[in-house]
Amino acid sequence: MAVPTWEAIRSRRNVRSYSDAPIAGDHLDEILEAGRRAPSSQNWQPWDFVVIVDRPALLSLSEVQGHGGSEHVASAASAVGVVAAVADEGSARRLYFDLGQAVMSMMLAAAGLKIGSCHAGVSDQGLARKVLRLPADRFCAYVISFGYPADRELTLIRHPDRRAFEQVVHRDQWLGDLDDVGGHQLRVGDVQDPDGAVRLAAAIGGRTRIKDVKTGISRVQRNVRVPEHH
Ligand SMILES: Cc1cc2nc3c(=O)[nH]c(=O)nc-3n(C[C@H](O)[C@H](O)[C@H](O)COP(=O)(O)O)c2cc1C
Repeated sequence: MAVPTWEAIRSRRNVRSYSDAPIAGDHLDEILEAGRRAPSSQNWQPWDFVVIVDRPALLSLSEVQGHGGSEHVASAASAVGVVAAVADEGSARRLYFDLGQAVMSMMLAAAGLKIGSCHAGVSDQGLARKVLRLPADRFCAYVISFGYPADRELTLIRHPDRRAFEQVVHRDQWLGDLDDVGGHQLRVGDVQDPDGAVRLAAAIGGRTRIKDVKTGISRVQRNVRVPEHH
């Protein structure tokens, strides 16, 4: 059964080992439809998707990225080659942004169906061209593998391996780095005034939560130091 978007977002992870379970045809089409519907610059839709379910072809594709980066394709139920026209430097930025949007839409649609996925870069364009039978004016930007995870099903990831929310999110303004103001490590309850603003810091594990007591904005930072007079 499909899961709500917010749950799909929180359960998606890059899966690199898949079970033997196939993906139902209508589910695979849903994933591809999600990619087709992705937004793009001026709606130019620079993508084509080549779907592979044939095992020998998946095994060949599992070698398109060096250093084992595409090994996960070997056990996938299916893989999608994300194909685009060879881009000049001027359009490459918007091309990769838009391909990323299509890829993420497909991955989230998959996660919504409890289907795992993983990116693979394509360093061997010759091999990708041969397996996907691409014309000369096209290249394969990424291969995305899809399948049911071999290790454990997709479930909510409560503590994702990501930078802290307070570190990533800046409200109203960019709060500068406090790393280099010199002095001592902050302790719980220390008050500092490194750049004019009164802040209250509380150490949590190896990190320090810094709260601007005037604005209420807080963030988490590592190795924070305060001036000597504190
Ligand atoms: C542009 C891009 C290229 C990637 N290329 C590869 C790759 O070649 N092989 C691979 O195993 N994972 C690849 N990944 C997956 C990243 O390693 C993965 O998103 C990151 O480690 C976070 O994993 P998580 O979402 O499971 O936490 C790529 C991801 C992106 C966005």
